[in-house]
Amino acid sequence: MDSTGETMPPVVAVFNHKGGVAKTTSAVNFGVCLAAHGYRVLLIDLDPQANATAGFGHQPLPTTGAWDVLTGHSGLAAALLPTPYPGLVLLPATGMLRTAEVDLAAEDVDAFSRLKTGLAGELKSCCDVAVIDCPPAFAVMTLNALLAATAVLIPTRPDPFAHEGLVNTWYEIRRLREGANSGLSVAGVLLTMTEAEGAIADGALAIRAEFGEHVFPMEIALDPRVGEAVQLSMPIAVLDPDGLAGRAYFDATEELIARVSAHVRPDIHLPMPAGRDHALNTLREWRSDSPALRRLPAQRGWTKRQPAPYGQAEPPSPFTDPPISEIAREDGMTAAWVVGALAIGAVIGMLAQHHWQLMR
Ligand SMILES: Nc1ncnc2c1ncn2[C@@H]1O[C@H](COP(=O)(O)OP(=O)(O)O)[C@@H](O)[C@H]1O
Ligand SMILES: [Mg+2]
Repeated sequence: MDSTGETMPPVVAVFNHKGGVAKTTSAVNFGVCLAAHGYRVLLIDLDPQANATAGFGHQPLPTTGAWDVLTGHSGLAAALLPTPYPGLVLLPATGMLRTAEVDLAAEDVDAFSRLKTGLAGELKSCCDVAVIDCPPAFAVMTLNALLAATAVLIPTRPDPFAHEGLVNTWYEIRRLREGANSGLSVAGVLLTMTEAEGAIADGALAIRAEFGEHVFPMEIALDPRVGEAVQLSMPIAVLDPDGLAGRAYFDATEELIARVSAHVRPDIHLPMPAGRDHALNTLREWRSDSPALRRLPAQRGWTKRQPAPYGQAEPPSPFTDPPISEIAREDGMTAAWVVGALAIGAVIGMLAQHHWQLMR
């Protein structure tokens, strides 16, 4: 409970020591799926690489963001940016985060608890749940995230190098729970970019054997559409809510809600989510409303469908978008038409001018 005795929203830090294990992808997709469930969600980009911020199309980076809240130069509400998805707001990374590690490390007091302090008064009025995208290092920014967090989620790719990162991450979180943040729970380990067979599949089995029920039952499979989603500045759960990775993130969000809710702490409260069908249809509606997809041929666009009756398999995905290369090809053809029309216009103009001069 805070100083007024009220409950606070859960804060989930998405962290792994290692880079490239889908921390940002997971944080963004959890954020948008939680918003589809009807929550007011605050997504905090604490990574100086600013991938989550840029992923929502904020490039060049905004001038006010996480750094300003950390340093007390801005209140939380004043630094927030809206996203295309109702309910989801972003505390963006700014260029200042790049030097934040050095600047904050030079301070001897409170360098690690600045985010917690910055969120304290305003968190509840801004959101029902917060998700933090952490940088891939156990340094000042990550410590700020893990001291402000009530739960940590660890995405990991089940390859041998990532396994080492997972073990180190686990050890660091355990140390933190024994010391600076005893209230931090482990929401779980999420296997990402998995493959059905081969070394990656074996690695997934090994991690399940080692970390047991901490590992989410669902896995986020390697899915080429995730790359398309990045190019379109859309979370995969919105681009392809019925596809491989999109649906897996939706399912993993339900698991996250259940785990965060089951972790009994009298000071943390997460309201009940909207039903599964309602949340899925919300993602589908956001997809069909997306300006980035408006140019797709109408007959290939998504059409709303009824959810399958309980206990029956979902019908196959009703849409097959053209790949990005095809959109690019269409754009190229449009550009060729425009250039051709301009050239013809220029020739007609020159002839008219010539004719005019002869007449005079
Ligand atoms: N399920 C997936 N299938 C295919 N590519 C993925 C998947 N998840 C993430 N990626 C890609 O992997 C790369 C690293 O992901 P990212 O979320 O940036 O990792 P991190 O934040 O841990 O560094 C990105 O290019 C991202 O688009
Ligand atoms: Mg990242």
